[in-house]
Amino acid sequence: MKLLNPRNRYSLGGAGFDTTYFQLLDEGKAPFLYVELDFKEVTSKKAAVIENSSQLRDKILGANSSISVEEGQVLSDHYKLLPVDLRDIPKLRDVVSFAGMDPSLPTFIIAECVLIYLDPDSSRAIVNWASKTFSTAVFFLYEQIHPDDAFGHQMIINLESRGCALLSIDASPTLLAKERLFLENGWQRAVAWDMLKVYGSFVDTQEKRRVAHDAGKSIIIHLINLVFHPFYVMGKEHYCVTYAVNDAMGIFGDFGFTRGSRESMNISSAMSP
Ligand SMILES: C[S@@+](CC[C@H](N)C(=O)[O-])C[C@H]1O[C@@H](n2cnc3c(N)ncnc32)[C@H](O)[C@@H]1O
Repeated sequence: MKLLNPRNRYSLGGAGFDTTYFQLLDEGKAPFLYVELDFKEVTSKKAAVIENSSQLRDKILGANSSISVEEGQVLSDHYKLLPVDLRDIPKLRDVVSFAGMDPSLPTFIIAECVLIYLDPDSSRAIVNWASKTFSTAVFFLYEQIHPDDAFGHQMIINLESRGCALLSIDASPTLLAKERLFLENGWQRAVAWDMLKVYGSFVDTQEKRRVAHDAGKSIIIHLINLVFHPFYVMGKEHYCVTYAVNDAMGIFGDFGFTRGSRESMNISSAMSP
Protein backbone atom coordinates (compact mmCIF):
# COMPACT_ATOMS: atom_id res chain seq x y z
CA MET A 1 0.00 0.00 0.00
CA LYS A 2 1.20 3.55 -0.74
CA LEU A 3 0.31 7.14 0.19
CA LEU A 4 1.42 10.37 -1.60
CA ASN A 5 1.21 14.17 -1.64
CA PRO A 6 3.31 16.97 -3.09
CA ARG A 7 5.12 16.94 0.22
CA ASN A 8 4.41 13.34 1.19
CA ARG A 9 4.10 10.04 -0.54
CA TYR A 10 3.80 6.80 1.37
CA SER A 11 3.99 3.28 0.25
CA LEU A 12 2.44 1.41 3.16
CA GLY A 13 3.64 -2.08 2.46
CA GLY A 14 3.43 -3.49 -0.97
CA ALA A 15 6.41 -1.30 -1.62
CA GLY A 16 7.92 -4.53 -2.80
CA PHE A 17 10.67 -3.85 -5.32
CA ASP A 18 8.71 -1.14 -7.10
CA THR A 19 10.99 1.59 -8.53
CA THR A 20 8.33 4.23 -9.18
CA TYR A 21 10.11 6.82 -7.03
CA PHE A 22 13.25 6.63 -9.15
CA GLN A 23 11.22 6.92 -12.35
CA LEU A 24 9.40 9.97 -10.95
CA LEU A 25 12.78 11.49 -10.09
CA ASP A 26 14.02 10.92 -13.65
CA GLU A 27 10.86 12.55 -14.99
CA GLY A 28 11.18 15.50 -12.61
CA LYS A 29 7.86 14.58 -10.98
CA ALA A 30 8.96 13.25 -7.59
CA PRO A 31 6.99 14.61 -4.63
CA PHE A 32 8.69 16.37 -1.75
CA LEU A 33 8.51 13.26 0.41
CA TYR A 34 8.01 9.68 -0.73
CA VAL A 35 7.73 6.99 1.92
CA GLU A 36 7.69 3.27 1.22
CA LEU A 37 6.72 0.69 3.82
CA ASP A 38 6.86 -3.09 3.85
CA PHE A 39 7.89 -6.02 6.03
CA LYS A 40 11.48 -5.79 7.24
CA GLU A 41 12.53 -8.83 5.21
CA VAL A 42 11.44 -6.97 2.06
CA THR A 43 12.78 -3.51 3.00
CA SER A 44 16.17 -5.06 3.94
CA LYS A 45 16.47 -6.64 0.50
CA LYS A 46 15.35 -3.43 -1.17
CA ALA A 47 17.84 -1.39 0.90
CA ALA A 48 20.58 -3.80 -0.27
CA VAL A 49 19.53 -3.38 -3.90
CA ILE A 50 19.68 0.41 -3.55
CA GLU A 51 23.02 0.27 -1.71
CA ASN A 52 24.57 -1.92 -4.39
CA SER A 53 23.34 0.11 -7.35
CA SER A 54 25.18 3.39 -7.86
CA GLN A 55 22.48 4.34 -10.37
CA LEU A 56 19.83 4.24 -7.60
CA ARG A 57 22.03 5.17 -4.62
CA ASP A 58 23.42 8.33 -6.20
CA LYS A 59 19.93 9.63 -6.90
CA ILE A 60 18.91 9.72 -3.24
CA LEU A 61 21.98 9.99 -1.09
CA GLY A 62 23.00 13.37 0.28
CA ALA A 63 24.40 14.86 3.47
CA ASN A 64 21.53 13.61 5.66
CA SER A 65 21.18 10.19 4.09
CA SER A 66 21.85 6.67 5.27
CA ILE A 67 21.21 3.09 4.22
CA SER A 68 21.00 0.23 6.71
CA VAL A 69 20.40 -3.22 5.28
CA GLU A 70 20.32 -4.62 8.81
CA GLU A 71 17.55 -2.23 9.89
CA GLY A 72 15.82 -2.44 6.51
CA GLN A 73 15.94 1.33 6.26
CA VAL A 74 16.83 3.98 3.72
CA LEU A 75 16.64 7.53 5.00
CA SER A 76 17.15 10.58 2.84
CA ASP A 77 15.60 14.03 2.68
CA HIS A 78 12.93 13.14 0.15
CA TYR A 79 12.78 9.33 0.16
CA LYS A 80 12.29 6.94 3.08
CA LEU A 81 12.07 3.17 3.03
CA LEU A 82 10.90 1.82 6.39
CA PRO A 83 9.94 -1.57 7.82
CA VAL A 84 6.55 -2.09 9.47
CA ASP A 85 3.78 -4.65 9.70
CA LEU A 86 0.80 -2.68 8.39
CA ARG A 87 -1.58 -4.58 10.64
CA ASP A 88 0.02 -2.94 13.67
CA ILE A 89 -1.74 0.45 13.58
CA PRO A 90 0.12 2.01 16.57
CA LYS A 91 3.44 1.11 14.87
CA LEU A 92 2.12 2.49 11.58
CA ARG A 93 1.36 5.76 13.37
CA ASP A 94 4.92 5.83 14.80
CA VAL A 95 6.47 5.13 11.40
CA VAL A 96 4.49 7.92 9.72
CA SER A 97 5.64 10.30 12.40
CA PHE A 98 9.26 9.03 12.23
CA ALA A 99 9.20 9.59 8.46
CA GLY A 100 8.52 13.27 9.13
CA MET A 101 5.19 13.37 7.34
CA ASP A 102 2.75 16.15 8.02
CA PRO A 103 -0.64 14.40 7.77
CA SER A 104 -2.45 17.72 7.47
CA LEU A 105 -0.86 18.22 4.03
CA PRO A 106 -2.48 16.74 0.92
CA THR A 107 -1.42 13.12 0.68
CA PHE A 108 -1.71 10.42 -1.95
CA ILE A 109 -1.99 6.86 -0.65
CA ILE A 110 -1.37 3.88 -2.91
CA ALA A 111 -2.15 0.26 -2.07
CA GLU A 112 -1.37 -2.03 -4.99
CA CYS A 113 -2.28 -5.63 -4.28
CA VAL A 114 -1.59 -5.38 -0.55
CA LEU A 115 -4.77 -4.97 1.51
CA ILE A 116 -6.38 -7.93 -0.26
CA TYR A 117 -3.70 -10.21 1.26
CA LEU A 118 -4.53 -9.07 4.81
CA ASP A 119 -7.44 -10.33 6.91
CA PRO A 120 -10.60 -8.18 6.43
CA ASP A 121 -10.42 -6.60 9.91
CA SER A 122 -6.85 -5.42 9.29
CA SER A 123 -7.73 -4.06 5.82
CA ARG A 124 -10.67 -2.13 7.26
CA ALA A 125 -8.57 -0.85 10.17
CA ILE A 126 -5.92 0.53 7.78
CA VAL A 127 -8.52 2.24 5.56
CA ASN A 128 -10.15 3.69 8.69
CA TRP A 129 -6.83 4.83 10.18
CA ALA A 130 -5.86 6.49 6.89
CA SER A 131 -9.15 8.37 6.76
CA LYS A 132 -8.79 9.63 10.33
CA THR A 133 -5.13 10.54 9.81
CA PHE A 134 -5.22 12.27 6.41
CA SER A 135 -7.98 14.83 6.08
CA THR A 136 -6.95 15.93 2.58
CA ALA A 137 -6.01 12.80 0.70
CA VAL A 138 -6.66 10.47 -2.19
CA PHE A 139 -6.43 6.76 -1.42
CA PHE A 140 -5.74 4.67 -4.51
CA LEU A 141 -6.42 0.94 -4.25
CA TYR A 142 -5.59 -1.59 -6.97
CA GLU A 143 -6.58 -5.21 -6.39
CA GLN A 144 -8.63 -8.24 -7.39
CA ILE A 145 -12.43 -8.66 -7.52
CA HIS A 146 -15.02 -11.27 -8.54
CA PRO A 147 -13.82 -14.41 -6.73
CA ASP A 148 -17.04 -16.28 -7.49
CA ASP A 149 -16.94 -16.99 -11.23
CA ALA A 150 -14.77 -19.60 -12.97
CA PHE A 151 -11.98 -17.15 -13.78
CA GLY A 152 -12.04 -15.83 -10.20
CA HIS A 153 -11.82 -19.36 -8.77
CA GLN A 154 -8.79 -20.13 -10.92
CA MET A 155 -7.15 -16.80 -10.04
CA ILE A 156 -7.52 -17.60 -6.33
CA ILE A 157 -6.18 -21.15 -6.74
CA ASN A 158 -3.17 -19.89 -8.72
CA LEU A 159 -2.31 -17.25 -6.12
CA GLU A 160 -2.86 -19.63 -3.19
CA SER A 161 -0.55 -22.19 -4.79
CA ARG A 162 2.16 -19.49 -4.67
CA GLY A 163 1.46 -18.81 -0.97
CA CYS A 164 -0.53 -15.63 -1.66
CA ALA A 165 -4.03 -16.21 -0.29
CA LEU A 166 -6.46 -13.34 -0.99
CA LEU A 167 -7.75 -13.16 2.59
CA SER A 168 -9.93 -10.06 2.04
CA ILE A 169 -11.48 -10.84 -1.33
CA ASP A 170 -14.73 -12.27 0.07
CA ALA A 171 -15.19 -9.19 2.26
CA SER A 172 -15.11 -6.87 -0.79
CA PRO A 173 -15.77 -9.02 -3.87
CA THR A 174 -17.36 -6.39 -6.15
CA LEU A 175 -16.85 -2.80 -7.28
CA LEU A 176 -19.70 -1.70 -5.03
CA ALA A 177 -18.14 -3.49 -2.04
CA LYS A 178 -14.79 -1.77 -2.67
CA GLU A 179 -16.53 1.62 -2.64
CA ARG A 180 -18.35 0.61 0.55
CA LEU A 181 -15.07 -0.36 2.20
CA PHE A 182 -14.06 3.31 2.00
CA LEU A 183 -17.42 4.98 2.55
CA GLU A 184 -18.07 2.93 5.70
CA ASN A 185 -14.62 3.79 7.02
CA GLY A 186 -14.72 7.54 6.95
CA TRP A 187 -13.92 8.54 3.34
CA GLN A 188 -16.09 11.27 1.81
CA ARG A 189 -16.42 9.68 -1.62
CA ALA A 190 -15.19 6.56 -3.39
CA VAL A 191 -15.35 5.27 -6.96
CA ALA A 192 -14.34 1.82 -8.23
CA TRP A 193 -13.80 0.84 -11.88
CA ASP A 194 -12.56 -2.45 -13.27
CA MET A 195 -9.45 -2.38 -15.43
CA LEU A 196 -11.42 -3.06 -18.59
CA LYS A 197 -13.27 0.22 -18.08
CA VAL A 198 -10.08 2.03 -17.06
CA TYR A 199 -8.29 0.72 -20.16
CA GLY A 200 -11.22 1.63 -22.41
CA SER A 201 -11.38 5.14 -20.99
CA PHE A 202 -7.78 6.14 -20.45
CA VAL A 203 -5.49 4.32 -22.85
CA ASP A 204 -4.82 6.46 -25.92
CA THR A 205 -6.72 5.54 -29.05
CA GLN A 206 -3.36 6.02 -30.78
CA GLU A 207 -1.71 3.48 -28.45
CA LYS A 208 -4.53 0.99 -29.07
CA ARG A 209 -4.09 1.48 -32.85
CA ARG A 210 -0.33 0.95 -32.53
CA VAL A 211 -0.86 -2.34 -30.67
CA ALA A 212 -3.46 -3.46 -33.22
CA HIS A 213 -1.15 -2.46 -36.09
CA ASP A 214 1.84 -4.34 -34.61
CA ALA A 215 -0.32 -7.39 -34.03
CA GLY A 216 -1.59 -7.15 -37.61
CA LYS A 217 1.98 -7.51 -38.93
CA SER A 218 2.05 -11.14 -37.91
CA ILE A 219 -0.81 -13.47 -38.69
CA ILE A 220 0.36 -15.76 -35.87
CA ILE A 221 0.26 -12.96 -33.28
CA HIS A 222 -3.12 -11.92 -34.65
CA LEU A 223 -4.46 -15.47 -34.24
CA ILE A 224 -3.00 -15.76 -30.74
CA ASN A 225 -4.68 -12.47 -29.83
CA LEU A 226 -8.00 -13.74 -31.18
CA VAL A 227 -7.77 -16.96 -29.16
CA PHE A 228 -6.65 -15.28 -25.94
CA HIS A 229 -8.75 -12.13 -26.20
CA PRO A 230 -11.55 -13.48 -23.93
CA PHE A 231 -8.96 -14.29 -21.21
CA TYR A 232 -7.43 -10.84 -21.61
CA VAL A 233 -10.88 -9.27 -21.13
CA MET A 234 -11.68 -11.50 -18.14
CA GLY A 235 -8.33 -10.72 -16.54
CA LYS A 236 -9.05 -7.00 -16.76
CA GLU A 237 -12.52 -7.52 -15.29
CA HIS A 238 -10.97 -9.20 -12.24
CA TYR A 239 -8.74 -6.29 -11.26
CA CYS A 240 -10.00 -2.88 -10.27
CA VAL A 241 -8.96 0.58 -9.24
CA THR A 242 -10.79 2.26 -6.40
CA TYR A 243 -10.03 5.80 -5.37
CA ALA A 244 -11.39 7.46 -2.26
CA VAL A 245 -11.19 11.15 -1.47
CA ASN A 246 -11.10 13.20 1.72
CA ASP A 247 -11.06 16.88 0.91
CA ALA A 248 -10.94 19.02 4.05
CA MET A 249 -8.99 21.73 2.18
CA GLY A 250 -11.42 21.68 -0.74
CA ILE A 251 -8.63 21.34 -3.31
CA PHE A 252 -9.74 18.27 -5.27
CA GLY A 253 -12.90 19.68 -6.85
CA ASP A 254 -14.42 17.01 -9.09
CA PHE A 255 -11.12 15.12 -9.36
CA GLY A 256 -11.71 11.56 -10.49
CA PHE A 257 -12.58 9.28 -13.37
CA THR A 258 -14.40 10.78 -16.30
CA ARG A 259 -14.78 8.46 -19.22
CA GLY A 260 -12.68 9.59 -22.16
CA SER A 261 -10.93 12.37 -20.28
CA ARG A 262 -7.34 11.34 -19.55
CA GLU A 263 -6.51 14.62 -17.80
CA SER A 264 -9.21 14.06 -15.21
CA MET A 265 -6.98 11.58 -13.39
CA ASN A 266 -3.95 13.84 -13.47
CA ILE A 267 -2.81 13.27 -9.91
CA SER A 268 0.12 15.70 -10.03
CA SER A 269 -2.04 18.64 -11.02
CA ALA A 270 -4.70 17.70 -8.47
CA MET A 271 -2.03 17.52 -5.79
CA SER A 272 -0.17 20.69 -6.75
CA PRO A 273 0.08 23.15 -3.90
C1 LIG B 1 1.88 -8.52 -4.21
S1 LIG B 1 3.12 -7.56 -3.47
C2 LIG B 1 2.80 -5.98 -4.22
C3 LIG B 1 4.06 -5.17 -4.37
C4 LIG B 1 3.88 -3.80 -5.08
N1 LIG B 1 2.82 -3.02 -4.54
C5 LIG B 1 3.62 -4.00 -6.54
O1 LIG B 1 2.47 -3.81 -6.96
O2 LIG B 1 4.57 -4.37 -7.24
C6 LIG B 1 2.52 -7.39 -1.82
C7 LIG B 1 3.49 -6.69 -0.89
O3 LIG B 1 2.81 -6.40 0.34
C8 LIG B 1 3.68 -6.66 1.42
N2 LIG B 1 2.87 -6.95 2.60
C9 LIG B 1 1.93 -7.91 2.73
N3 LIG B 1 1.42 -7.90 3.98
C10 LIG B 1 2.05 -6.90 4.64
C11 LIG B 1 1.97 -6.40 5.97
N4 LIG B 1 1.14 -6.93 6.87
N5 LIG B 1 2.78 -5.37 6.31
C12 LIG B 1 3.64 -4.83 5.41
N6 LIG B 1 3.75 -5.26 4.13
C13 LIG B 1 2.98 -6.29 3.76
C14 LIG B 1 4.49 -7.87 0.93
O4 LIG B 1 5.70 -8.01 1.65
C15 LIG B 1 4.72 -7.52 -0.53
O5 LIG B 1 5.88 -6.75 -0.73
